[in-house]
Amino acid sequence: MIIKDKKIVLGVTGAISAYKALELARLLIKEEAGVWPVMTRSAKEFITPLSLSTLARSPVFSDLFELTEGSRISHIELAQKADLLIVAPATANLIGKLASGIADDLLTTVISAATAPVLIAPSMNSEMWANKIVQGNVTRLKAHGYNFVGPAEGKLACGYEGKGRLAAVEDILEAAEEALRAKDLKGEKVLVSAGPTREAIDPVRFVSNSSSGRMGYAIAKAARRRGAEVVLVSGPSYLPKPSNITFVPVVSAEEMHDACIRYYPQSTLVIMAAAVADYRPTKSYPTKVKKDAKVLSIEMERTADVLKYMGKKKKEGQFLVGFALETENLEENAKKKLSEKNLDLVVGNTPLGLDSLTNQVTIIDREGSVEVLPPLGKDDIAERILDIVVKQKS
Ligand code: CTP
Repeated sequence: MIIKDKKIVLGVTGAISAYKALELARLLIKEEAGVWPVMTRSAKEFITPLSLSTLARSPVFSDLFELTEGSRISHIELAQKADLLIVAPATANLIGKLASGIADDLLTTVISAATAPVLIAPSMNSEMWANKIVQGNVTRLKAHGYNFVGPAEGKLACGYEGKGRLAAVEDILEAAEEALRAKDLKGEKVLVSAGPTREAIDPVRFVSNSSSGRMGYAIAKAARRRGAEVVLVSGPSYLPKPSNITFVPVVSAEEMHDACIRYYPQSTLVIMAAAVADYRPTKSYPTKVKKDAKVLSIEMERTADVLKYMGKKKKEGQFLVGFALETENLEENAKKKLSEKNLDLVVGNTPLGLDSLTNQVTIIDREGSVEVLPPLGKDDIAERILDIVVKQKS
């Protein structure tokens, strides 16, 4: 876990869910992070500093004026030495103060002076969360790069039911990992294609393949986590639409072509993970084909090769990654695709990866260096591909 050996300021504010911060502190210590707990005055009405300091294995900081010269650590040091700041639970009051630039206690002062990522886990009554001013504050903080996790939906301590519960501690931990991950694709505009295409025979039948879209979706999400602006052009897929990206659903190879070409000029990185149909029926029947003839022949014609077109039009500053699906001579065929389509990187794989949670890929670059990865989950493969892209692009 990335969290290991990181210094984390754990801010706790006054909400009934403050007791869950104790569990969060315990889990952070279990993952071998260093925890500096900071409590607001009202947080102490809900849990005791003794409990928190015991689980966090550190004294609790809470008084701004105690941390002056001569004390072990100053508020500026807390802010500057932290790798991540988490506020869990975060009240509407804390969110409002941060959004307005108010620093009137230790926690708000530390957060204002910090350069590390900040993760906020709100917890409040559902009406309070829905309040337009609170929502405006959240939008403002998000625009300034603050990370949010939750709130979750469910029964609230105040008797209400709705959105306002502190996110599950495991979700906060995962969001912390995400916030810590290097934003090494910041500034990049990434275009990813995913899934199969469908070429209509008649209104109820089509020619397609068994791609699930998982690889492309994993790449799109990983690129977004690493700070890129992402456009995902997806053929028909049952996967949930990833958040915080531009999602462009398409059906046929022609639609995929048009959508990709539309976003291509402004893209700095393109990863074509889609299994685009190479052929489509020369005509699509307007009504259902009846089973009259003994033999039915469907004439097929070539579709446009989107990636090849992009390779031809590639400009300085654009990096092209293609996939190569092969049943034989994987390395040789993948290398051929790399040069014929003018790619910067090609990811070779076999049909075993189709509609599967895992895959085994071989990554080849322009210099001919070949990296054979072991079988891995598609999220891990996405990260490995992006690691190589980042190295090669810089
Ligand atoms: N591709 C594309 N447009 C097509 C077909 C493929 O952009 N009409 C892209 C795929 O998204 C992939 C790469 O080209 O990134 C290679 O696709 P693949 O199916 O492995 O190979 P093809 O180029 O179609 O060649 P062949 O089917 O002969 O192996």
